[in-house]
Amino acid sequence: MMMIVQVIGLTMQLLYCCLRFLLRKGVTLMDLNTSSPLCEKDTLSSSSTHSGFLVSINYKHTIETMRLISLPVTLSIALAAAIEPPEGHPWLAPGPNDYRGPCPMLNTLSNHQFLPHDGRNITKDTLISALSSALNFNESLGALMFDTAIIINPNATFFTLDQLNKHGILEHDASLSRSDAFFGNNHVFNETIFNETKLYWTGEILDANMLANGKVARQLSSKAFNPNYTFTSTVESFSLGEVSAPIIAFGDLEAVTVNRTLVEYFFENERFPTELGWSTRTESVTIDKILRLSQAIGNASNLITTSKAVVSTRRRDLHAGIY
Ligand code: HEM
Ligand SMILES: [Mg+2]
Repeated sequence: MMMIVQVIGLTMQLLYCCLRFLLRKGVTLMDLNTSSPLCEKDTLSSSSTHSGFLVSINYKHTIETMRLISLPVTLSIALAAAIEPPEGHPWLAPGPNDYRGPCPMLNTLSNHQFLPHDGRNITKDTLISALSSALNFNESLGALMFDTAIIINPNATFFTLDQLNKHGILEHDASLSRSDAFFGNNHVFNETIFNETKLYWTGEILDANMLANGKVARQLSSKAFNPNYTFTSTVESFSLGEVSAPIIAFGDLEAVTVNRTLVEYFFENERFPTELGWSTRTESVTIDKILRLSQAIGNASNLITTSKAVVSTRRRDLHAGIY
């Protein structure tokens, strides 16, 4: 009996450390200023709410105390992890053999296991279902996005996230958070590049103007310093979708704004900002809504100021499904 209790205690300790590791950024499960009990501290006491659950921990770093850890506490922690929104899709860091690519959203969908966690075998059905459950994209939008994406794996019924890395097909220069292929890795999040972009996010609530300015600045920087810089009108169409994507995922479609904190958290962690209060929007996202947002970003990208808003005449889609 004593053995069983000890095993539960040790399991609990391991679970606790894993949770702290997995949820270490912006997590409210417990006070992150307190270091890991497994490693250094003798005691840790903390309580906080997490998705409506009150988690209390009173922990002593001795086997004796582990025996006293109650099953309800163990269960409540496990439950809190299991129900971490998006419900049923806890975040899991990619492993060394998992593919990831230049798209922070597809990476996020894989990290939350809406898409295969290994980043492989992304079929049309899988993509439609992932975009619908996680972001409430309607089916025709999901299908359109797949049809656009599959050019990276012609004659196949699926693509993998690393196939997106190939420069000059879908991946392009002047990304918001990735380096140009000319300078090195074109698909892993790059803090220096993202800092360049964020310089132009001058408020807590990002609007079309700030998002557009960040992008235009990245284009100028690449154009100035990358001798292979390429930015065709097709790339521009893709980019307008990408720049408006944070609003589509986390923002206000009517106001064309998004909370900056949510966007930074998303880019930096490739994780849904549920810890910060975000949840999947209830109203479905359609191609029309995306076109409207891309147009707003296109208008805001124009460097000429006029008394009237600049009206774009081109039809644009997220990742250029339509021209
Ligand atoms: C089939 C679906 C999708 C495919 C194949 C795809 C592919 C890509 C690719 C290849 C890039 C890299 C472009 C570059 O060089 O910057 C990219 C960037 C991006 N994607 Fe996606 N994407 C998809 C869906 C989405 C969705 C649904 C969102 C969000 C609503 C999204 C948000 C973004 C953002 C914000 C970037 C810009 C990253 C940066 O500039 O650093 N993507 N995507
Ligand atoms: Mg790029």
